[in-house]
Amino acid sequence: MRQADESLIDRREFVERSLCVMLGVPTTLAFLAGCASLVTRTVAPVDGALRLALAHYPELAASGGSLRVRPEGSVDVIYVLSLGADRFAALSPICTHLGCTVEIQGAHLVCPCHGSTYDRAGRVLQGPAERALARYGTELTPDGVLVIDLGGRT
Ligand code: FES
Repeated sequence: MRQADESLIDRREFVERSLCVMLGVPTTLAFLAGCASLVTRTVAPVDGALRLALAHYPELAASGGSLRVRPEGSVDVIYVLSLGADRFAALSPICTHLGCTVEIQGAHLVCPCHGSTYDRAGRVLQGPAERALARYGTELTPDGVLVIDLGGRT
């Protein structure tokens, strides 16, 4: 039986990883240098939530770390960002201006269409977007599981 937070490599991730390999980026370096930011993990929801055991997601271990997850059976991707001090944000990547997909660029999320810029908590730093990115409720359990409430988007 598969555990709730087990990740599967989907076709897109396979292509992305292959691209990193073709570019000559060793797996470990790719992870540290940013190719990992291209990776999307597919996670099976349980009772309307994603449960990410942080021990299995080293991308989120340090402040500034990030991960893309796709709930199994959904086309929507969620950006999960470590904010430091055991705080996390789970954001929709859909720009609130006109709906392009924002990109994680270090401390910011930047929209490639018209330049809206958000901080890692999803707040607008620069328009034309006027509203924050949609944010899912998160909770870190005492045993190190990040719970993302798929029904609790604000
Ligand atoms: Fe993102 Fe316009 S769609 S800034």
